[in-house]
Amino acid sequence: MTKLLITYYSSYGHMYQMAKAARDAAAENNDYQVKLRKIPELEAAKKAMSGQDPYLQAQEVQSDVAEVTLADLEWADGIVWGIPTRFGNMPAQVKQFIDTAGGLWAEGKLEDKATGIMSSSNTLHGGQESTILSSMIPLIHFGMIFVGSTYGQNPELSADDFHGGSPYGPSTVAGSDGSMQPTEGDLKMAGRLAKRVARVAKGIKSTK
Ligand SMILES: Cc1cc2nc3c(=O)[nH]c(=O)nc-3n(C[C@H](O)[C@H](O)[C@H](O)COP(=O)(O)O)c2cc1C
Repeated sequence: MTKLLITYYSSYGHMYQMAKAARDAAAENNDYQVKLRKIPELEAAKKAMSGQDPYLQAQEVQSDVAEVTLADLEWADGIVWGIPTRFGNMPAQVKQFIDTAGGLWAEGKLEDKATGIMSSSNTLHGGQESTILSSMIPLIHFGMIFVGSTYGQNPELSADDFHGGSPYGPSTVAGSDGSMQPTEGDLKMAGRLAKRVARVAKGIKSTK
């Protein structure tokens, strides 16, 4: 079995929806064992956002998703990350979790794992691409092999209608007030990235 971890952080539920679409698409293949895990919330963020109903509702919806652990990272052959934009960069929640993985890095435990990144932002040009590209940096330090979204497999990337996504990875636009939802195309691209990461992970595993 190829083991695929989909791990994400989501304040308002958009990244959660993309992560679920990724999980569901990969789970269609019986050769893949798929885990969905959320990146733990930080106390400071909880304090800052707990007065917002959309935040509280989105947290409630995700309450049955287990929190990711370092053991999950080690377990996986491939990892898909759901990383929403914070000022064009990854959220502190994701950075905090990644920074606990120093032991795995030191032992080379994450090397040669296939990985891909999905993102979201409020505005179309608010930093989805920069978030994916900058989030790639620590993953390359870990020795992971980056997998993006191809134009050939994702016709949405060349379409003129409104959607997220780039060759760097799937993404979605939440809208200036956060009320927009991932389009069908965004969710499909999330699913295709998960399957592509799993395919690459399977291929790498077969050569070990
Ligand atoms: C502190 C903070 C910084 C943000 N910075 C940006 C930004 O630079 N550009 C943007 O378009 N959206 C920005 N956003 C909006 C988030 O990216 C958006 O809420 C998120 O992608 C929605 O995904 P989620 O529902 O999974 O949390 C920011 C939100 C917060 C809380």
